Amino acid sequence: MNSSLISVRVQAMRFEAQGILSVELTAPDGTALPAFAAGSHIDLHLGNGVVRSYSLLNPPTEQHRYVVGVLNDRNSRGGSRYVHEQLRVGTTLTISAPRNNFPLDESAAHSVLIAGGIGITPISCMLNHLRSQNKSAELLYCARSRAEAAFSATLLAQPDVSGHFDNERGAPPDLRAYLASKPRDAHFYCCGPTPMLNAFEAICAELDLPNVHIERFAAAEQVDAVQSDEYVAELARSKKVISVPAGKSLLDALLDAGLDVEHSCREGICGACETKVLEGEPEHRDGVLSKSERASNKTMMVCVSGCKGRRLVLDL
Ligand code: FES
Repeated sequence: MNSSLISVRVQAMRFEAQGILSVELTAPDGTALPAFAAGSHIDLHLGNGVVRSYSLLNPPTEQHRYVVGVLNDRNSRGGSRYVHEQLRVGTTLTISAPRNNFPLDESAAHSVLIAGGIGITPISCMLNHLRSQNKSAELLYCARSRAEAAFSATLLAQPDVSGHFDNERGAPPDLRAYLASKPRDAHFYCCGPTPMLNAFEAICAELDLPNVHIERFAAAEQVDAVQSDEYVAELARSKKVISVPAGKSLLDALLDAGLDVEHSCREGICGACETKVLEGEPEHRDGVLSKSERASNKTMMVCVSGCKGRRLVLDL
């Protein structure tokens, strides 16, 4: 087992809203689990061979459990359906240690949090954490209906939390008007379905908002992890040189060469395969790195990203 993998037991499962279950995971021997920060996610290695990432929604101060929320997605490719239909209390599961691609900037004077549907899982954890630190924060919680909005009663009872339910308003939220009304120096966070994230990113760019953070659990668009020309990857620590042939992903080339590269989603969204780049220019195709992180070319997601030139030097 990869050293960053953990064995846990499904301690409890709860109905949270129409189509949404929460799953509580604990160490089988009751010991403390690795610490995490608000915004983190874990990968669940499900019994059907599928690996999926889910955000942690319980407070980061808790060390005895991880709680995730799982939507029974109509377009499930095997992850959420397995959780809803086959996973049972008492089952032992392998998970990854928590990773955080969606960290909170706790120095912000004000934080604006926007959740769409199941995107509430990291966002509610962040809101609760900011509140526990007496930080200024507000939440816009959007969903198709109240019945499909997990934790809506508790959240909407709090100050500075507003809800937008499409079936009550007859239209999706006006994100442009909402974002334009907020202080420009606030930190803006959004997690939700891909069309909402794409709209959020476009509006934030249009408004030239400087502090924008998003979390994706599906690729923004179908990415092709392979390229049509061959290149070379030099592995500085292993002192190996491998060629990445046309039609093969860098991750597969590394695994074939015997490298133990951690990976999970293979879609450029979980961050598990992030690898330091020492030389060369990656062709970034992931949904994890920010614009500035991409431009710095210091790291890359080897599952989907490739090479702009003929050679990369990696810290592997
Ligand atoms: S395996 Fe998930 S980003 Fe590469």
